[in-house]
Amino acid sequence: MRSLIDILELSVEELDQLMNTADDIMAHPAKYSEVCHGKKLATLFFEPSTRTRLSFEAAMYELGGNVLGFSEAASSSASKGESVADTAKVVSCYADIIAMRHPKEGAPYVASINATVPVVNAGDGGHNHPTQTLADLETIRHELGRLTDLTVGFCGDLKFGRTVHSLIAALSRYNGVKFVLISPVELRLPDYVRKDILVTHRVPYKETTDLEAVLPELDVLYMTRIQKERFFNEEEYLRLKDSYILTADKMKLAKEKMAVLHPLPRVNEISVAVDKDPRAAYFRQVLYAKYMRMALIMKLLDIAVEIDEQEA
Ligand code: CP
Repeated sequence: MRSLIDILELSVEELDQLMNTADDIMAHPAKYSEVCHGKKLATLFFEPSTRTRLSFEAAMYELGGNVLGFSEAASSSASKGESVADTAKVVSCYADIIAMRHPKEGAPYVASINATVPVVNAGDGGHNHPTQTLADLETIRHELGRLTDLTVGFCGDLKFGRTVHSLIAALSRYNGVKFVLISPVELRLPDYVRKDILVTHRVPYKETTDLEAVLPELDVLYMTRIQKERFFNEEEYLRLKDSYILTADKMKLAKEKMAVLHPLPRVNEISVAVDKDPRAAYFRQVLYAKYMRMALIMKLLDIAVEIDEQEA
């Protein structure tokens, strides 16, 4: 039995297989519509979510399975003091696979070592968000046709941005990838990501506070929200919240083929006018996420469907 807590638990070959499966699901949805018949997914969300929870649920329904769960800690027995470990043991009696989001870093890991079914980390505090990374990789592959030889800019909250940490870890394994880290100094990438991933694996990167200066270099611009819920001090949040706003005017500085990604939700950091730009990939990214979660559920439940390799 296998869980997914950190994106690095999947090899590059496994990521390729998941993307090929997702592409096959998109091309032949009927072939997959009953493969999870009789299986149940539990979505245990101790923190708010629109995309991750609903796309996991849509993914399981589209595979012919069923879904149970809760969308806030207040409606679960966590509000009475039940531990994550006990919750995982109990839910293992009801479901075949668990997707868990939790505000505390490491909570899905604790669930995974106590559950008797696979556990997927659906976002743990400011730490990791591996299934968002699956969506991000699939989006880049579709938008640009490759995951190698890319200059990828990350902009906004790189300190608490769990999607940023997971995607940097994943992309660092592809050849010819360089990173441009664009953030206020207060929200720089944490040292543990910089040292453990970028320095250890000798991945080229530079840091800047100036988005406009680096925009012309980028193949991918990964925008992020300044996350109010991660700040201890409201004054600091208010000072930093509008540090970067991507506008249609700024997009004129970017390459014709650049792809703009955002894990969403968006607040103010991408102006709505940018949505019409063909380079704005963030709503297509939402759809890719569902197909990648379908592919992941199948993998963790050991459900194999043959893919036409010529199409993959
Ligand atoms: N991208 C993402 O995790 O969105 P939600 O918080 O809505 O799940």
